[in-house]
Amino acid sequence: MSTFSGMSNLPFIILSHRGNRSLRLVKLHKEHPILRTGPNALSFGRVAAIKDIYGHGTPCTKDEQYIVGAGSHYHLADVVDKAEHARKRKVLSSAYALKNLERWEFKVADKVQRMIAQIDKLCTEPPAKHERFPRPEDVRVDLRAWFNFFSLDAIRKDGTTFETNLRDCLYPTARKQSRLIWSYDYYKILDRISDVLPYYRRMSKAAEGWEAIVLYQAARRLERYRRGEKLDDFFQALMEDKNGKPQNLDVTTAIALTNVLYQLLLHPDVLAKLRREIDDALEPEEVVAPYDKVKHLPYLRACLDESLRLWPPTPHGLPRKTPPEGLCIMGEYVPGNTTVSMSALVAHRDETVFPDADKFIPERFLGDKGKELQSAFITFSAGARGCIGRNISYLEQAVVLASVVHRYDFALPAGFELQREETMNHILGPMPVKAWRRDLRAKARESG
Ligand code: HEM
Repeated sequence: MSTFSGMSNLPFIILSHRGNRSLRLVKLHKEHPILRTGPNALSFGRVAAIKDIYGHGTPCTKDEQYIVGAGSHYHLADVVDKAEHARKRKVLSSAYALKNLERWEFKVADKVQRMIAQIDKLCTEPPAKHERFPRPEDVRVDLRAWFNFFSLDAIRKDGTTFETNLRDCLYPTARKQSRLIWSYDYYKILDRISDVLPYYRRMSKAAEGWEAIVLYQAARRLERYRRGEKLDDFFQALMEDKNGKPQNLDVTTAIALTNVLYQLLLHPDVLAKLRREIDDALEPEEVVAPYDKVKHLPYLRACLDESLRLWPPTPHGLPRKTPPEGLCIMGEYVPGNTTVSMSALVAHRDETVFPDADKFIPERFLGDKGKELQSAFITFSAGARGCIGRNISYLEQAVVLASVVHRYDFALPAGFELQREETMNHILGPMPVKAWRRDLRAKARESG
């Protein structure tokens, strides 16, 4: 990657501070199938590496990054030991099975209902005929913020409660870690020393807000449990680390939703096609799309997958360690205990699998040809350590996207470009839009 990468992790740490390291890797991998990103770290650039590194039966394990970045105990996503992981995953897998998750639909529907009630209040009149771009005063809805689902109640250690913003306390922690974690031996020291600089100290401080949210949620659950209430919500409690380390979960789903809506607004023809599919499936007066009516819509799923391909919410090359005896990856022998990874962004920009890889073309995911792409589609990673929340995320994405596309029209301000900053996830900048209600009754009359 750099002449010095063989000697030090510093070049990668510097690259990580720029907030677009995977895009840089995409560029470099066009020429070089394998790159050295640190003294003991390799990045792979062809989709053939996926099954070797992440596939079922890979001898690789999660590498030390998960250990140095972990809290006081290991949860499902960062436990390294394979047997312990298998045990935890088995306990959880039935709870995450789709037929169980559909029982959760009412919770998603409730959130969507509340989000829609708020967006309704911010809606404007439809644009006038000559209006190409919205007037600044009409741009009133920050969709990114609404997809992040409100602010959360939190609690201080002294027991008093306050309201804090999930985004404000979540992202700085992730940002700091993604910039400094690359030198595993020195990370803990670097993490502490960096707090001398106000820039990093502010990021550490922000984690306290997150801890407060988790404490509050945990305390409320415990209280309900003590009152003898039967709790029907397994995953939050299991996923929230008491040390306040943020997990992907809803954050990645919110990133995914913002991304897909952005792409739809940039591609009105795709939006129109999707809307026809959704309008046919829903009644004009339906506000929250029932999952049953939208889960099998092929174009809706293709739009979601294409957006998840183009901008995977977690572009981070998930680091794995080769077994002591070494391993062949992409046909090349890699010595034991080497950190190996492939960024989803790199995999998804491989032109041999995804022609016109930089373009948003949902049609590529339709039919049998679309199915064939799934083995190179690693937004949710792959194999035994692949995302267990994939189905719940698709449920949320399908319900939210179908509901908003059905109910509203949106317009982006002139010259708007969505900002992305890579940590382990792609943190998005605001997405302000003008929103107005569609006249669904007139539509229904037209189609007769
Ligand atoms: C668009 C949304 C999502 C994306 C892009 C995503 C992506 C990922 C990725 C890339 C991994 C592998 C992480 C690694 O190897 O370090 C992962 C693992 C995981 N995800 Fe997700 N995720 C999403 C939504 C969710 C949701 C909604 C949940 C829970 C409700 C969830 C729970 C998990 C868990 C528990 C793991 C660890 C699995 C294991 O190691 O066995 N994810 N996810």
